Amino acid sequence: MLVLGIETSCDETAVALVDSAADGGQRRIRANLVLSQLAEHAPYGGVVPEIAARSHLAALPDLVRQALATAGVTWEEIDGIAATAGPGLIGGVFVGVVLAKALAAARGLPFIGVNHLEGHALTVRLTDGLPYPYLLLLVSGGHCQLVAVEGLGRYRPYGATLDDAAGEAFDKTAKLLGLGYPGGPAVEQAARDGDPARFALPRPMLGRPELDFSFAGLKTAVRQAAERLPREDRQARADLAASFQAAVAAVLADRAGRALVRFRAETGQAGPLVVAGGVAANATLRAALAATAARAGTRLVAPPPALCTDNAAMIAWAGLERLAAGQRDPLDLPARPRWPLAEMTLEQAA
Ligand code: KG4
Ligand code: ZN
Repeated sequence: MLVLGIETSCDETAVALVDSAADGGQRRIRANLVLSQLAEHAPYGGVVPEIAARSHLAALPDLVRQALATAGVTWEEIDGIAATAGPGLIGGVFVGVVLAKALAAARGLPFIGVNHLEGHALTVRLTDGLPYPYLLLLVSGGHCQLVAVEGLGRYRPYGATLDDAAGEAFDKTAKLLGLGYPGGPAVEQAARDGDPARFALPRPMLGRPELDFSFAGLKTAVRQAAERLPREDRQARADLAASFQAAVAAVLADRAGRALVRFRAETGQAGPLVVAGGVAANATLRAALAATAARAGTRLVAPPPALCTDNAAMIAWAGLERLAAGQRDPLDLPARPRWPLAEMTLEQAA
């Protein structure tokens, strides 16, 4: 089964082709193209939705052609077309969904509208062939949640952020430290030369029994510390970046460790622990989570960094799983700005 995937929910225009044997084995990424709009948004210090939508529209048709050429695939070989149908910046989501529907109608192929979060959640099944169930920590620019992934379309939320997402905290910290956008990679880079013990930052929710997150207090503490730093003190800023990164990793690892206890009680399985979403590209976080998983008698499974940040291979894969399960979406399927994982189901074809 060969599926074309399209991702346009934020500031990357992405197209991929993914195939797998009928039994789910031999999974292959045949093409995985990601066009970042970074330069277009950089002057504004964040993503401008209107610019994002226009840029997706300009780039997408040619990127689809390029993906087919890269994979050496013809339209006749493709079994379905999947596009992110939400959640995300709605103008961009529309662009991807409308093109996917048009291609599906023109080529007589099934269309699948994929939940972007499900794309992140299932990436480890593409990269590692991981069986259900597993415990997922999803950490991206807009989301921070712990979810028991029990099967396709079966996601049980354990906890979520009460305020900011983890990625948002990275982006804001980068801004405060004058490190530019996007913040995650910039903070990680700066933190390499920093002392994580220099600043005693708060670790919100640490040790609390409920499985939620909060980053607002940490953000405030970083702002107050940053305001006291002389602009030209590069070392101090590196130390603050490292201290911030350590605080986030400690909180996420603590929450994940507690969630593993609940997961074991409910499923009889120790794990595995899976981390996904853009922040999962962070090496310090991955190390902290790996240690947590080991202490709980299980292992951490994380996609390679390039498949943690937004891409279309994960959308093609989620589409492929749903197509294999018999799902076909109607051509009037709406694009959704908001679409929580917990609202997902597995809708079978009529
Ligand atoms: O999943 P993603 O690419 O887009 C969303 O769906 O939100 O996640 C983007 C987020 C941004 O906040 C970015 O700063 C963060 O992931 N991020 C990182 C790293 N790479 C990306 N955060 C920490 N360390 C990184 N290396
Ligand atoms: Zn994402």
